[in-house]
Amino acid sequence: MAYPYRHERETRVLSEHFGDPEARTLEGWKKRGGYAALKTALGMAPNEVVDIVKNSGLRGRGGAGFPTGVKWSFMPKDDSRQSHYFLINADESEPGAFKDRELCRWTPHQLIEGAMIGAHAIRAKHVYIYIRGEFFEPAQIIGRAIEEVYAAGIAGPDAMGSGISIDVTLHLGAGAYICGEETALMNSLEGRRGQPRIKPPFPAVMGAFSKPTTINNVETVCAVPHIITNGADWYRQWGTEKSPGTKLFNMSGHLVRRGNFELPLGFPLKDLIYDVCGGIRDGRKLKAVIPGGSSVPILAADEIDIAMDYESVAAAGTMLGTASVIVMDDQTNMVKQVRRMVEFYAHESCGQCTPCREGTQWLARILRRIEDGYGRQEDLDQLLEIGTNMTGTTICVLSDSAAAPVASSIAKFKDEYLALIRRAEPAAAAV
Ligand SMILES: Cc1cc2nc3c(=O)[nH]c(=O)nc-3n(C[C@H](O)[C@H](O)[C@H](O)COP(=O)(O)O)c2cc1C
Ligand code: SF4
Repeated sequence: MAYPYRHERETRVLSEHFGDPEARTLEGWKKRGGYAALKTALGMAPNEVVDIVKNSGLRGRGGAGFPTGVKWSFMPKDDSRQSHYFLINADESEPGAFKDRELCRWTPHQLIEGAMIGAHAIRAKHVYIYIRGEFFEPAQIIGRAIEEVYAAGIAGPDAMGSGISIDVTLHLGAGAYICGEETALMNSLEGRRGQPRIKPPFPAVMGAFSKPTTINNVETVCAVPHIITNGADWYRQWGTEKSPGTKLFNMSGHLVRRGNFELPLGFPLKDLIYDVCGGIRDGRKLKAVIPGGSSVPILAADEIDIAMDYESVAAAGTMLGTASVIVMDDQTNMVKQVRRMVEFYAHESCGQCTPCREGTQWLARILRRIEDGYGRQEDLDQLLEIGTNMTGTTICVLSDSAAAPVASSIAKFKDEYLALIRRAEPAAAAV
């Protein structure tokens, strides 16, 4: 399959230039209309920029779907600029997610342009792009793009001749999933241990370096130049009233075609799997779908008749999250898959909160025991009880994320657990 594969039902806005190396350079980006939106935004008052983004209905693509313009409006309105920071979250470590690295790799100037517009909107003098350290190629490409914008006078003390000072710095993380959580990212950026902070205070009051800070995901920020150029109504032509715009769907698992596909929010999940991605590979049957990255509850095959927007996916009892769709066929061992996900969270827990530190380890151990043939009937209740104690009781939601697939898989694939336990009972009785 040639990269990038394009499906006729795609609406490519952010990903239009994927696969085009010329679009990575400043000259190439400018030829494609780049930095016109920044020029326009720098000529506007910060509040005007915030209002356009608010009216567009753009929602954060980092997982929670919080309205971006509303988030920007929380920042103090003083004009000192010295003391505000805009952080770009390019940590992307969620299993199933692989969109931000592609945006960084193919369209670094789209990201920098969006980041500088955001900085102006929240009156920040400094943008930090925090990227996961293992993303060697995307980091190199962004680094080069930053050099280009400084040399061209786009970034720096007099951004595009506007008299406004905006600096852009690239910061490499060390590859810890928890450093994608916004306050852990701030600690890491400051050179501290990457552990989430208790909120309040919220970042808009006291964030990076103890100053008012806004943080946004790469994909969120990449949408901003298009909104400034074309207007809020243009952006609202796609999606639904509450979930407008296009979204990169990261499709992985047992599919004929995998990869990133940009589609309007509200696109039917069934069409995404069977039309855009060509269905289940090797003619097999669908068993389960994780619609929003490994942190969200699992859907069974008979639950996929839903639209992929924030509200519809929530109504189905799960979450759109990062729209990282993991598709599993009928040969998948669900207990094994869930155990592998839980082990990931157990490894990545920062260890501050007892329910998370202990709970993730216990979930992993019990799941491993069931898988290894030593499961007991009471294990399922115990898994659910541990999960309940891990939910809503900790500093960040990593703990909830580990518990969600366990509870949903027991609810929907209990027979698989029971089959392993029944087979195990003679072995368990012998020890
Ligand atoms: C454990 C954990 C990991 C996270 N990892 C990421 C990440 O890699 N990238 C990201 O953008 N957001 C991540 N988030 C969400 C961020 O905390 C934050 O909500 C997001 O960057 C805000 O941007 P948005 O409003 O544009 O979505 C993570 C959250 C948690 C709890
Ligand atoms: S929930 Fe887990 S990862 Fe989050 S702060 Fe607590 S211990 Fe750390």
